[in-house]
Amino acid sequence: MTALLRALLVAAAVASMVPDAARAQDTGDPSAGRTIASALCAQCHRVMAQDIDPNRTPPDFGAVANMPSFTELSMRVFLQTPHGQMPRYQFSLAELDDIIAYLASLRRR
Ligand code: HEC
Repeated sequence: MTALLRALLVAAAVASMVPDAARAQDTGDPSAGRTIASALCAQCHRVMAQDIDPNRTPPDFGAVANMPSFTELSMRVFLQTPHGQMPRYQFSLAELDDIIAYLASLRRR
């Protein structure tokens, strides 16, 4: 095996271990995320899909999901960073996946 071929195989193996945003979203359960959002987030945010007023503060989740800046990664970072008036949540990775999957499910297609 040439050095180049070996390097390519290593690169492919590493790439296959890094979940891309699309696959990571697939791991969450949107209905579990909706339950969490209703329980924890609804006291401040409107959390249902049809609520998409972009001018409310805090923003409706339907609007959040349709922001150009919305990505699985940006949500993951946001929800693990202390933020304004939001409580400091300590979500498990599974809970984060669920919440993000729920938010992603609110995107207009
Ligand atoms: C105590 C009220 C409160 C609760 C509870 C709360 N939020 Fe927020 N959230 C806010 C406020 C206020 C803002 C806007 C100001 C800011 O960014 O800090 C905000 C902003 C956000 C944004 C940012 C949207 C953007 O501009 O990019 C996201 C995403 C978000 N919240 C998600 C959540 C989720 C998910 C939960 C539940 C797990 C939650 N919030 C619970 C008050 C709250």
